[in-house]
Amino acid sequence: MNDLSLIILAAGKGTRFKSALPKVLHPLAGRPLIQYVLEAADPLEPAGICLIIGHQSEQIRQALSSLELEFVLQEPQLGTGHALQVSREFWEKRAGNLLILYGDVPLISTQTLRKLVETHVANRCSATLLSTVLADATGYGRIIRDSGGSVTSIVEHRDADPQQRQIREINTGIYCFEIASLRNVIDRLTTANSQGEFYLTDCISLLHRDSKRVEAIVCADPAEVAGVNSRSELSELEQIVRARKLQDLMQNGVTVIDPASTFVDPSVQVGCDTTIYPNVYLQKDSVIGESCQIFPNVRIVNSILENGVVVLDSCLISETHIRAGSQVGPFAHLKNHTVIGENCRIGNFVEIKKSVLGNETKAAHLSYLGDAEIGKRVNIGAGTITCNYDGVEKNKTIIDDNVFVGSDSQLIAPLRVHRGAYIAAGSTIQQDVPEDALAIARAHQVNKADWAKKKRSTKAKE
Ligand code: UD1
Ligand code: CA
Repeated sequence: MNDLSLIILAAGKGTRFKSALPKVLHPLAGRPLIQYVLEAADPLEPAGICLIIGHQSEQIRQALSSLELEFVLQEPQLGTGHALQVSREFWEKRAGNLLILYGDVPLISTQTLRKLVETHVANRCSATLLSTVLADATGYGRIIRDSGGSVTSIVEHRDADPQQRQIREINTGIYCFEIASLRNVIDRLTTANSQGEFYLTDCISLLHRDSKRVEAIVCADPAEVAGVNSRSELSELEQIVRARKLQDLMQNGVTVIDPASTFVDPSVQVGCDTTIYPNVYLQKDSVIGESCQIFPNVRIVNSILENGVVVLDSCLISETHIRAGSQVGPFAHLKNHTVIGENCRIGNFVEIKKSVLGNETKAAHLSYLGDAEIGKRVNIGAGTITCNYDGVEKNKTIIDDNVFVGSDSQLIAPLRVHRGAYIAAGSTIQQDVPEDALAIARAHQVNKADWAKKKRSTKAKE
């Protein structure tokens, strides 16, 4: 939108959070609160974004250093009006309008912000604020309107008389100001109020007294403008975000057996006809294909599952790509840039780290595969271990197509087992195995005739 700049207030202490992590960095369904606010405003294409920071400012600065943000340090924090005073260098010289948001009001929608700004611009307002109506308005600034319904001021709860406290229309703290108008009133704020702070809300009555146009638009859904002041409020919003995501998935053809115990981050994609069983977590930027089945107690982080993948119970899958038709689990752990080919079978108690497996390869039981490059149609027998770590470096194991690795083998990397070779069960392999060869690397078996029988008879005589 033309000539729109953005200020986000985030200097407050977040006292009720009792946390070493700044409140706006706390995750809500996997993403920091502040990210929701930035993403909601992004489509409005603000010409500049300024974040007001105070408490735990260094942590916030560091966490958001990769973004195109200007930071303004507000210290001490003398109120919301003071936040605008200290950031005047950011906004004062700009043309157009200033949108003001809170860093701890994450569910604000682009749609509502757009409506706020469009109303503001269309009606040539000096200020347009976003209000909402609450059943219990305790603690909030009340919107005061004259007999004609025009907004005249905002009175903070603590400064309000009993009659004003009856008002249930409250100030959300989200506004759009014409910069020229804000410039005219910002220095006229005083601390003559119960909290001894510079109230940004007083700009509204100052503009009204100057006969400037001030309007309010009402946000119909209070959840959208709910601030997060405590961990219990955080959990309330978490419920909302999760429920919305699951509704969205179900509307798009995903079966969710028990929404109450299913946790899908908003950024995750799931294809139609996929079934998600209870106690499943799909996190970060995971992409799940169509017709997959994710059985109970599975967590999938930043991973891609192509169509028709089945993940049996109790698996942890992170940073992994599983191609179509493969089956994983129960109790498998796949991680760190692992790629599983099509129609593979990864069974119980198999850990795979930073390895690539070709199509139709099987590791059905009790294995560790790390830093391995494994071809197609390979059979990894039960108990196979790639000994990838020599105490200093991680070494690579290469297993070509059609290799058969017998059970309980150790493959001491670096190592290559060439195409079609066999490794006898119980082998400790430390040299490359040629194509189509059989490698046996275990002690020869000796059978001592009647040894056990003799032992038993000596015992009996004693
Ligand atoms: C403010 C509004 C109130 C509104 C309410 C909605 C004022 C005077 N009052 O209340 O009308 O109903 O929000 O939640 O504006 N912040 C700073 N610097 C400061 C103080 C606050 O950056 O010096 C930030 C906080 O981090 C927070 C936001 O501003 O994100 C609101 O602060 P908070 O103290 O929660 O709001 P109130 O002043 O109680
Ligand atoms: Ca608040």
